[in-house]
Amino acid sequence: MKKNLFFTMLLLPAICMQTYAQAGKANRELLRKADEALQLAARQYKGMMTHVPDAVLPRSTNKDGSLMTSNTAWWTSGFYPGTTWYLYEYTKDPAFKAEALKRMELVKKEQYNTRTHDLGFMMYCPFGNALRITGDTAYKAILLTSAQSLSTRFNATIGCIKSWDHGTWKFPVIIDNMMNLELLTWATRASGDKKFEQIARTHANTTIKNHFRKDYSSYHVIDYDPANGAVLQKKTHQGYADSSAWSRGQAWGLYGYTMMYRETKDKAYLNQARHIADYILNNPAMPADLIPYWDYNAPDIPNALRDVSAGAVAASALLELSRFTSKTEAQRYWTAAEKMLSSLCSPAYLAKEGENNHFILLHSVGSLPHNSEVDVPLTYADYYFVEALLRYKMWSK
Ligand code: GLY
Repeated sequence: MKKNLFFTMLLLPAICMQTYAQAGKANRELLRKADEALQLAARQYKGMMTHVPDAVLPRSTNKDGSLMTSNTAWWTSGFYPGTTWYLYEYTKDPAFKAEALKRMELVKKEQYNTRTHDLGFMMYCPFGNALRITGDTAYKAILLTSAQSLSTRFNATIGCIKSWDHGTWKFPVIIDNMMNLELLTWATRASGDKKFEQIARTHANTTIKNHFRKDYSSYHVIDYDPANGAVLQKKTHQGYADSSAWSRGQAWGLYGYTMMYRETKDKAYLNQARHIADYILNNPAMPADLIPYWDYNAPDIPNALRDVSAGAVAASALLELSRFTSKTEAQRYWTAAEKMLSSLCSPAYLAKEGENNHFILLHSVGSLPHNSEVDVPLTYADYYFVEALLRYKMWSK
């Protein structure tokens, strides 16, 4: 008896590790493609450094084919310096660090911006990575001020952070806002002030309650009544219809709840992420290469445009989700992410060197209903692609 127990105990960690390792089983061919794509990304962004005027940030491509840039108040301003940090981490080339620092000097002032919910994207992508990679604690003060600014948009009656100040909405909250919560969970860890994480958890809980349909697809915009917290409208802004599933929104939700589980270990967030992943991966409108159409209900499927940014965000999220799940499920998420990355590394989606205004990926959609950024590169598609490639290399066993 005792002998059996002894051997069982010896074997247990091996069994667990085997299950875990399986989820991240290395695929040598994809690892090779990932390195090639990262090297291409580094060369593209070396070109980008000289292509972008000093006082602005790269955003996309204009209709005339020229580089579209943004000022620092635009929601995507943090992605370019964030990607540049990832490329520094990969290449150790000091030119990337210098470029990240140069562009962060521009973005830094946004720490005081209380008119946007996007401070997580804008500040945590560059400054969070800077802190993680350099260990320079000077970035903490900037991030904590940013978290404080973001917190001013929280309404306790509703239990959410307000997304937009524009439009005729009363208190609009968009699914994208899940992505900004990591800045707040970090801020509680860094400062000891529980307020930040409490806001993040409350926002995530209210979003579970009101943003999702029975099939775990999500609405884009929920408009709340600030007087009593009631839901006034369930709408779309960038999707095909109020009742449709806008692809990037589904990817933001997947990434957001996976991240919230990592940050809090609250099983409700893990379950939400698993349900969203299953909605995405079981969707009959998902193409064979797993790069989604811009909306899962686009009327012109299979001729609808793809949204590569939704694919890149989902790939990065699924790699992480596979680490929090086990056996068959973990394997399924990992394999799906591999398929997405393999597709993104192919000539169908990866730019040719020196082309595409030096962005890495082709074929994203910003907002089709507004005829804005349609079938173009987008700075955040590049950010989550590079992140996913680095995660794939780091977590492959
Ligand atoms: N957060 C805005 C977008 O995904 O387009």
